[in-house]
Amino acid sequence: ATAKMIVDKDFIIGEVDKRIYGSFIEHLGRAVYGGIYEPDHPLSDEQGFRTDVLELVRSLQTPIIRYPGGNFVSGYDWKDGIGPKESRKKRLELAWRTVEPNQVGLNDFADWCKKAGADIMWAVNLGTQGPEDARSIVEYSNHPGGTYWSDLRAHHGYKEPHAIKTWCLGNEMDGPWQIGHKTAEEYGRIACETAKVMKWVDPSIELVACGSSSRGMVTFPDWEATVLDHTYPHVDYISLHTYYGNKQNDTATFLARSLQMDDFIRSVIATCDYVKAKKRSKKTMMLSFDEWNVWYHSNEADAKIEPWQIAPPQLEDIYNHEDALLVGCMLISLLKHADRVKMACMAQLVNVIAPIMTQTGGKAWKQTIYYPYLHASVFGRGKALVPLIQSPKYDTKEMTDVPYLEAVAVHNEEQSEVTVFAVNRDTDNALPLQVDLRSFGSCRLIEHIVLEHDDLKAVNTADEPDRVKPNNNGNASVADCIVSAMLSKASWNVIRLK
Ligand code: AHR
Repeated sequence: ATAKMIVDKDFIIGEVDKRIYGSFIEHLGRAVYGGIYEPDHPLSDEQGFRTDVLELVRSLQTPIIRYPGGNFVSGYDWKDGIGPKESRKKRLELAWRTVEPNQVGLNDFADWCKKAGADIMWAVNLGTQGPEDARSIVEYSNHPGGTYWSDLRAHHGYKEPHAIKTWCLGNEMDGPWQIGHKTAEEYGRIACETAKVMKWVDPSIELVACGSSSRGMVTFPDWEATVLDHTYPHVDYISLHTYYGNKQNDTATFLARSLQMDDFIRSVIATCDYVKAKKRSKKTMMLSFDEWNVWYHSNEADAKIEPWQIAPPQLEDIYNHEDALLVGCMLISLLKHADRVKMACMAQLVNVIAPIMTQTGGKAWKQTIYYPYLHASVFGRGKALVPLIQSPKYDTKEMTDVPYLEAVAVHNEEQSEVTVFAVNRDTDNALPLQVDLRSFGSCRLIEHIVLEHDDLKAVNTADEPDRVKPNNNGNASVADCIVSAMLSKASWNVIRLK
């Protein structure tokens, strides 16, 4: 059966906030040391940043990058990462049980972000620290001058403020694994008091409160309700995190996981709106999906890592073709909620569950998941349009009525372009698709990009970096504003029209 989709340029979900194409760098594994920063690498610049990695990051047009963690941040003292590098302290890092050399910190990362063309989303430590350290770092980073912390920044060579606009109030504080884990009441109170002082230092900043670490947490969604009850007037976003895996090798279910992501987003929106109603507030809480990805390939290897090394390989998932398909579906999920999800971070960016891999001292290359992320970030800007979809469906061991087609369209008025992002979840058969674009008047095809592979488990490696890569051979055609295409089995498709 043919899958049908109708999109109308007036049926708008919302303006896509480019920050949904954000990413994440944590002081974890080889993300920083051996990833973005490697002074001895032949391709590194005068600051020790790898230019080959920077180029791959820049191509993604990543607008914002969350930093410095993650679980790491809950034991991190940001003051260890400023000032002359030779006098920075090495610390035991308890979240990932490594040694942190502190050779990259706030100012260094701000420089790297400038080179990458991205803004910073800074997470403050609400595990072992609190309002005092949080207000100090806002002063150090954002205050123009004439105070202890802002003058110290100038003394460190950064006269101009970094003007960091977006700040996370801790990380995954609902998780028992978190350094300084808290109950919702405890976290809600400290997040509220921290938010107040941070905004008193710089009223222009925006704050993200920690939501649940996943939809599976026993405290979900009471956590959100309680945290927002304490923080509602003081914060601008609540966070969501989710990771999926295919340990059972059940691809049909794995590719349907993005439907659970949709459900998670809907439940968090409902909880936010419940608190809004309870508080008689005029403000609508927005969502920051600031950790999402596939993560499971590296679990066994990570369990065997010796503690207290500097930057050992950790969370180095090597992604295959089916992972790229789920990542495509997850990006479509974010776009389908463009009215409420205003930020999102693919977790993470380099080496650690990442679209970009490097060899320390060697090459850098693109993992399979790089491609859907690249396409969505580059072509998915504008207005997300309501996708009215009729699709044949399938059942899995865990789920029923999963549509073979996952799709959404984005209208970029400035460029007069509309782009359809579509995944065919059917791993055995091609899926005929018709997209009715009648409200657009006339349109012609620019290109139909396809990411496809006969082997769902195919991966890219340093020696074979192009095993899985997109082609331009999609067969979409347009007649009378109806797009017809045959979506290859197990494929990610980007149909661009003008
Ligand atoms: O992204 C890896 C880890 O996943 C982060 O440190 C943590 O926040 C989450 O559990």
